[in-house]
This record gives sequence, structure tokens and C-alpha cells, in this order.
Amino acid sequence: MSPTVEQHAENWDLRHADFNDPDFLYDVYTVMRGNSPFARTDNPFLSATPSGAWVAVRYAECVQILQDWEHFSSSPTPEGAEQLAGDLVITLDPPRQQKFRKVLNPYFSPARMKALRHEIAAETDDLIDVFIESGSGDLAEVAWRQPGIVFFKYLLGMPVDDVPLCVELTDTALNGATEEARMGAWGGLYQHLHDAVTARTAEPPRDDMIDVLLSAEIDGEKLAFGDVVSNAMLLVQAGLETTASAMSFAYHYLATHPAERDRLIAEPDLLARAVEEFIRFAGSIHGIPRTVAKEVELSGCTFSPGESVIVNYASANRDEEQFPEAARCILDRRENRHLGFGAGVHRCLGSNLARLEFQVGLERVLTRMPDFTLTAGAEAKFHGNSVTRGFRSVPVTFTPAARTR
Ligand code: HEM
Repeated sequence: MSPTVEQHAENWDLRHADFNDPDFLYDVYTVMRGNSPFARTDNPFLSATPSGAWVAVRYAECVQILQDWEHFSSSPTPEGAEQLAGDLVITLDPPRQQKFRKVLNPYFSPARMKALRHEIAAETDDLIDVFIESGSGDLAEVAWRQPGIVFFKYLLGMPVDDVPLCVELTDTALNGATEEARMGAWGGLYQHLHDAVTARTAEPPRDDMIDVLLSAEIDGEKLAFGDVVSNAMLLVQAGLETTASAMSFAYHYLATHPAERDRLIAEPDLLARAVEEFIRFAGSIHGIPRTVAKEVELSGCTFSPGESVIVNYASANRDEEQFPEAARCILDRRENRHLGFGAGVHRCLGSNLARLEFQVGLERVLTRMPDFTLTAGAEAKFHGNSVTRGFRSVPVTFTPAARTR
């Protein structure tokens, strides 16, 4: 018999098949938040912790943890550190972490993003062209391919043909059925990036992120080759599934809420706020761990060095104390200090890119297929791994229209 909501709340396991029903998962979070600011899990992910981990589930404590890197470090536990092949911006603490960010930051500047708007629209249009004349198609194909194509082609400097393989390897690495499958996929992805970066060392520079990592110096020293490959791998993982999952959620939501879809078409100025609300509501990332560096007390709970605490952004983003009517997706929500992009020193580096891809992705679909709805009798497929969660198919029907080219 499947565990009840209360049983799941006692021992949260994001990999459990029951959670392929996203509403059920959020019911579990409601119970977890009601019980205590900190829940437990015997099944931590991303950083190995044999004795299990705490899970911060309320908004206030999540923000405090994210802002207190001196007690809640991003370094993995010793068991987790064995799995890392290099220094990653996301698993370092300041001051070194800030130096890594400085290397990558210029690539995500608002000016650079603004200059990409036209290319992103053209790439999105190409994906819509594949099915626009037929009157039916799968919007998950747009959501899952657009961020990868944009990031690989215009920023990272990897062949776009590699996108499907990288998505598949990332997915298996995070959610493969066995430890062997997961480790095999991590190794496969690392090797793929390793080969791609090695090939680039023999080529002239092209002003992309791989070049920037290859030539970067921190404290007067070039990055180790392993650090270059590992950070490229982090960017691939961070840049593909996150935006894709959130965008697939938005397409599904609008395909099943035609009045909301029509409102966004009638009031395009709402798009920016709607994107923020989709990111709060979709929960494309549910949790990232921190390791306790020094004993600390928070909301009546004492944390000891070496313990792992998973910050559950998705649960925090549905906390009624912070978001009135948190369980409703309110496209024109005004006060929306969501944690979808994290907070504190590790706040998402790619948020400007993600927002732009997302806005343009919505804009093009709403403009070119304004009456799209979920195809009657067809089923949208939701899939969550232990880090990213979204729709893998959103079959829609609409009035056929002409291709752009
Ligand atoms: C909707 C899409 C996205 C979501 C929801 C998201 C979410 C997040 C979150 C929650 C963090 C904080 C992790 C932590 O606290 O440890 C983060 C960090 C990061 N994100 Fe994103 N992200 C998105 C898109 C992107 C994109 C498109 C890129 C790059 C192509 C990117 C690159 C990064 C990097 C490099 C970090 C690490 C920053 C650091 O450790 O200082 N993200 N992201």
C-alpha cells in the first residue's frame, strides 16, 4: 500500500513515484510545514549523507539558511566531496566562490541578455515551425529544446546536437534507478564535457563561456582543467532542465486555463510578472543541500557540524506566511519575493537568461498559436527527478498557421 501524506511527511523522499503527482507532493509539504520548520529525510540527494538530512520547509528558515553561509556551507559532506571532480562555484563558499562568479557573471549581464532577444525569438519560432501548420503538437518539445539550443549556441559554445544527450545523461545521473546507473551517467556526462573542452584547447578562442573558463585566472592561477570541465558541466545541468521544467509547466498551465491564456494575450505587460509567478509556483527545483560548518541554533533546533540540511525552495515558495493564497497561481501577483532562484551568495547566476528565455518562449507561443489547448483525450506527462521537475509532454491543439520560414 502506498504511504499516506502523513507518512511521506515523516520521511520525505523526492524520488518516490507517488510524487509524479505534483499536487500530492505539495500536500505533503503542507503537512511538513505544519509539523515543524525542519523535517527529516533518510534519502538525501546531491550530497551523500549516510545518516540522512534535515529539510528546511518554511520560507523564513530557508531564507536565513541561504543567507548564513558561515554556518550553512555549500561544501558537500566528506562523503559527497568524494564524488566531485573539481571546484564548482555552487559547492564553494566565499571568498573563493565569489571569484568564480566574477569570471562567469559578465556572460549573464542584462545587456548581453537583451542583445540575445532576437536570436531567442528566432530559435523558438523554428521549434514552433515544426508543427504550426498541422494544428497540433507537443509544447514540451519547445520548452525542452529552446533553453538548451540558446545556451549551447550563443553562450557556452557547445554543438546544439549535443543537447538531447546532455539532457538524458543529466536526468539519469539525478534519477537513474540504481546507484550504478546514476554514477554511469555522471561519468558519461563528465567524459563528454571533458572531450569537448579538450578539443577546444587546440582551437582559436571564440569568446564563449568555455573559452572564458579556460583562460580564467583566480588569485593569479589558471583554473585546473578538472575545474573547467566541472563548471562547464554544472552550467549544462543548471541551464537546461531548470528553465525547461518551468517553461513546460507554464505551457501546461495555460493550455488547461484558457481564460488565463487569453488574459496574457490581452495584457502582454503582465508577462514579466507571470514568469515570476510561474517560477514560484512550478517548483522546477525542489531542494539544494547545505552542510553545517559550525554548531548553530535556528528556530529552536540545534544543528551540529557535518549535518546536512536540504533547503526546500518549492515548499518555501508555497508558505502561506509569505505568500497569501500560496496554493494559487496568480499571474499578476505583486509581492513575489520567491526563492525559485535561491537567495544569498549563491543566488542563481543564470536568472536573467532564464527569465528572457521563458518570456520569449511564452510570447512566441501566445502570438502564433493563441487558441492552444490541451488536446482532448491526450495526457500530459509529468516527470520529476530529485532536482528538477516538469512536464515531458504537453500535447496541444490549435488553429493551424503559417511557418515563419
Ligand atoms: C528557471 C530556471 C532556473 C532556476 C529555477 C534556477 C534555480 C537556481 C537556484 C535555486 C540556485 C541556487 C543554488 C544554491 O542555493 O545552492 C541556482 C544557482 C545557479 N544557477 Fe540557476 N536556475 C535557473 C536557470 C539557470 C540558468 C539558465 C543557468 C545558466 C545557464 C543557471 C546557472 C546557475 C549557476 C551557475 C548557479 C550557481 C551560482 C553560485 O553557486 O554562485 N541557472 N539556480
